[in-house]
Parts: sequence; structure tokens; C-alpha cells
Amino acid sequence: MKIVVVGTGYVGLVTGTCFAEVGIDVICVDIDAEKINNLNNGILPIFEPGLETLVIKNISNGRLKFSTSLKQSISDAGVAFIAVGTPPGENGSADLQYVLAVASEIGQYMNNYSVIVTKSTVPVGTAQKVQMAIQKELENRNLNISFDVASNPEFLKEGAAIDDFLKPDRIVVGISSKQAEEVMRKLYKPFLLNGHPIIFMDVPSAEMTKYAANSMLATKISFMNDIANLCEIMGADVNMVRKGIGSDARIGNKFIYPGIGYGGSCFPKDVKALIKTAAENGYSMKILQAVEAVNEYQKTVLFNKLNNRFQGNLEGKTIAMWGLSFKPNTDDMREAPSLVLVDSILKAGGNVQAFDPVAMKEARHIIGDKIVYCKNEYDTLINADALMIVTEWTDFRSPNFDKIKTLLNNAIVFDGRNIFDGKEMNELGFEYYGIGTRN
Ligand code: UGA
Repeated sequence: MKIVVVGTGYVGLVTGTCFAEVGIDVICVDIDAEKINNLNNGILPIFEPGLETLVIKNISNGRLKFSTSLKQSISDAGVAFIAVGTPPGENGSADLQYVLAVASEIGQYMNNYSVIVTKSTVPVGTAQKVQMAIQKELENRNLNISFDVASNPEFLKEGAAIDDFLKPDRIVVGISSKQAEEVMRKLYKPFLLNGHPIIFMDVPSAEMTKYAANSMLATKISFMNDIANLCEIMGADVNMVRKGIGSDARIGNKFIYPGIGYGGSCFPKDVKALIKTAAENGYSMKILQAVEAVNEYQKTVLFNKLNNRFQGNLEGKTIAMWGLSFKPNTDDMREAPSLVLVDSILKAGGNVQAFDPVAMKEARHIIGDKIVYCKNEYDTLINADALMIVTEWTDFRSPNFDKIKTLLNNAIVFDGRNIFDGKEMNELGFEYYGIGTRN
């Protein structure tokens, strides 16, 4: 079986590599020649644990190839995944220009029955637009080749993407013909050995599933952030409350960690897009509007604690920041809450000395020279007035507290991810501020 994956971003690269890993011949296509050249030499554009090893392995066994030519690649592939970017458009809805451009190109070069699969997160109704774009090109060529468009949303988490792909909880596929169902079932068979289900449904439902899943997860987070803020006011400890509710299987203990707001390339974009889709169709997503509002507020919470602690005067104060990426195990800085924090501290006249185990290059690219980038977490503390935990990298969980105390001007810690225990921190002599915790 041969497949082509168009787009070598996060989703495309992981998808292509994991299919190659189970024995399928894969060509990954991208218009960015430099990226393709690098990939052919085993140089990856993103950091994702385990991905580089798999890419290099599958290049050398000949199953994974990279090319800039969709024309050549599509001609003998039975399945084409569209995994190009869908950045937020001007009005909050996903910009489909790249998806539809790929669809047209597929229509220009397709020669046999193929299943065209949308893998990018796309609004309900996109598969139909893809279908029309391909059909139009086939008509221009006076060809009558049959094809199917399927929707196969991905549920990968950055930082755990390889595992999520190879051992998925479920695979969701929207199809409109038995033939497409058979092709997709065969393709995913190697991933279903552990009894994980492949769920077939109609195309619009599959498209909606992706948005509903991310929106539900974002809702859990915002809900917990709201509860955390109330816990502080009422003298409760959200860590206890989280354990208390999470042990109810109906609620579950995942994705109920309060923090400094969700970030990344998915939740903020998808929540906005679903609100927008609903509005365009005359419906108001009241819960999601609140989810978004809570998230915006939550990004300000840690800064407000800092500002209050220093009586509204951060002029000349230096803040040590541990972590910059939107979550651990990734170098992704998109919509990272750290950006809002850095901005607020700088605007208030403070300075930032930061360290992130992986995202330093990416952070410098986005933030520039406005902050100091340190060699390690301890260097951030030199002459700093407080420490802020921004991303819960495992590297930061069990630090040398004596060293922190010695290096910092004041033993003050603002823990945006609740990685430390407030009581223990107090016993160690720190002034500690968590999210929704009792200090
Ligand atoms: C998310 C979904 O979890 C994936 O299933 C989905 O495939 C992906 O979006 C996507 O649409 O491509 P991802 O953005 O990689 O994955 O990251 P998550 O692990 O979901 O975290 C998102 C944000 O929520 C992070 O900022 C994280 O810090 C925050 N979060 C997560 C919390 O604040 N609390 C939690 O309990 C969990």
C-alpha cells in the first residue's frame, strides 16, 4: 500500500512517519524545498520526543520519502492525506486556502481511484469543498475518475504524539462509501491490534467530533481554573478538590489541572472556530464563550499575584522564569501563556530571565532580545526577585531548593502549574503562591 501525506508540519510528519513505521510506503510532500531537503537528511523542523529516531529509521529502510512534487507522488498512491495548516482566518474561522489548493492540485494529477483524507482540523463542511475542488479539476481534464473524500481527525497531543498515533484511544473516520471504508480500515489495521476501535461515521459528524473533543477538553480546563480561583477566595485547596472530583469515573482525573490557561496551536484556535461556525449559522455557543473568557482571564492570574506581592511596583524587578513552551515536551510557543506573562512583566517595567529545556530557540525567535535567555534554570535566579514556574517540565519538579533560596534575592515562588506543594514550600522557607492552593 502506498500513501501520500501532504504537509510536513506537526500532524503530517507524525502521520507519515507512523504509517511508514508499520510497513506502509509513504511519501511526505511539502512545498517548502528547504524543509524537504532537511527531512531527507534526517533534520526535523519540530521537536517531538521519539520522532527523529523513527524518521531516520524509516528513511533508511526506504519506506519514508520526502518530496516537493505532489504531481509525482499522487500518481501511484491510493490514499492522500491533506495535513496542511489551517491558520485562524481574519474573523476567527479556519483559513482553508491551503487545504483547497492541495485539493485542486490532487485533482490535476490524480489518475486512479483514490481516497482523499482531510487530516487537518477543518470546519464542518470542508470535505464537501475538497470534493468540489477535486471534481472541478477532473472535469477540466475531461476525466471521470471516481474518488472519495474522507475526514480523519487526529487527536495527537504534542509531546506524546508518537505514542498517541501508534496506540490511539480511537480512530475516527468520516466516509461516504463502502469502498472508502474498506481502504481506511485496511490502512489502520496495524493500529487496531490492541482492540482500540475505529469508528466510522458520516463526514460532517467526523469533522464535528474533532472540534467537540478539543472544546470539551478546553471546557474542563477552564472549569477547573474557575474553581481554582474560587478556592482561593473561599480558603479551599484546588489540589484536594481536584483529587476529590477526579476519582469519580464520570468526571475522570485527566485534564482537570488548573494553571495559567490553555495554549498551543489547537485549543485556542478550535474553540474560537467553533464559536464562529455556530454564530455564522445563527447559534450562540454560550459555554464555549465562557471557556474562552475564563482562559483569557487565567493568563493574567499569575502576573496579578506577582504584581500584588510587589504592591504594584515591578519597576526594575527581575523575574526568573522556568519554562516558556505552552506545555512540557515541546518547543511549541504558539499561544503560550508565557508570552502574555512576559509581556505584562516587561510593560510593568520588570525584567525577565528565562530558561526552557527545549524551547529557547523558538522563544528567542518570537520574543526576541527583550528578555535574558539563561543557560540553565539556576542561572535565571541570579539577582532575581522572584521565581515563576510557567511550564511543568519534569526537569523542574525536584530542584535544589537550597540553591534556589541562596541565588534568589527573595525566597518567593509563583507556581503557575502547582508543581510544588505549598505547605512543603513554606516549611522550606519559601513564600509560595500556587493556583487555587492554600499557601
Ligand atoms: C490538544 C488535544 O489534547 C489533542 O487531543 C489534539 O489532537 C490536539 O490538541 C490538536 O487538536 O491537534 P495539545 O494542544 O498538543 O493537544 O496539548 P494538550 O496536552 O491538550 O494541552 C493543551 C493546553 O492545555 C496546554 O496549554 C496545557 O498546559 C493545558 N492544560 C492541559 C491545562 O491547563 N490543564 C490540564 O489539565 C491539561
